[in-house]
Amino acid sequence: MSLSIPDTLRGRDYIETRDWSVDEIQLAIDVAGDLKQRFKRGEATLVLQNKTIFLFFYDKSTRTRNSFEAGATQLGAHAHFIAAETSQAAHGESPKDMGIILSSYGHGIAIRHDLVPGEGNTLMRAVAEHATIPVINMQCDVDHPCQAIADLMTVQEHFGKDNIRGRKIAVSWAHAPSYAKPMSAPQGLMMLMPRFGLDVVVAHPPGWDLMPDTVEYAKKVAAEAGTKLEFTGDMDAAFEGADIVYPKSWGIMDLFGEPEESLRRSKKHRDWICDERRMKLLKKDGVYMHPLPADRGNEVTDDVIDGPQSIVYPEAENRLHTCKALMALTM
Ligand code: CP
Repeated sequence: MSLSIPDTLRGRDYIETRDWSVDEIQLAIDVAGDLKQRFKRGEATLVLQNKTIFLFFYDKSTRTRNSFEAGATQLGAHAHFIAAETSQAAHGESPKDMGIILSSYGHGIAIRHDLVPGEGNTLMRAVAEHATIPVINMQCDVDHPCQAIADLMTVQEHFGKDNIRGRKIAVSWAHAPSYAKPMSAPQGLMMLMPRFGLDVVVAHPPGWDLMPDTVEYAKKVAAEAGTKLEFTGDMDAAFEGADIVYPKSWGIMDLFGEPEESLRRSKKHRDWICDERRMKLLKKDGVYMHPLPADRGNEVTDDVIDGPQSIVYPEAENRLHTCKALMALTM
């Protein structure tokens, strides 16, 4: 069957999952599933021929950059990679000028700016206000909507699309010495999963609280969806009876300007690791997820991430298919 991309989302920004309805997010996952099958069959899916997307990175990336670049190529489009420090953004060029000018050059703008609380989301929304082409959030301080939608697709694939309501996902902080990681991946899950019927428990030591407005939003959508949203300081309690565990590190909100101090405090909680003992607390068919890169030996042991309950590679693969769907639907 020939590929047909609905035009109901054409021109729309994708900055936070809250900007799209449940039906719109499900449409993107369904299109991603279609693109995935076609990719596996080796079919051409050139629905964005002669289109250009600009990828602005204020932070490093493996999956996001490559899924957008490869995905654009597979759709017939071209992706320009721009390290923000090599652009005039580093000299303070305004988001207004960025939005207006890039809109006259191409068909989509994607931005990653995730390590400074209060900055990335504000920048993207300012670019989007002036752009006449869609703006996609490749991870900001508030949300990682490209990761969250890939995670949801992976959960739907693993358990069955109509078999996820009432399942428990434990989004837990874990110790990592590599760097003070953004808060947006756990926040993105906490804000999206309740809307699709999952019960969410968030676990972290004292001091690693998520942003208050994301917590308030998550409580609101969980109440609307009739799902549970709980918080605990006990990793074991979060894992107990979980269908999905998602243990990863994030930094202390007020210490992103002093990452060394955030990492120093993290060392006191080295016992916040996902290991085989903790995996035994899950339901029998429970799974381990992580957006990657994982700090092996700190956030998670090798036997867990490489073990039979880990679905991190299908999860990472779905970053490609979902970002293709987002580009195909909006550009
Ligand atoms: N999960 C994720 O966003 O990976 P990258 O940081 O490599 O893009």
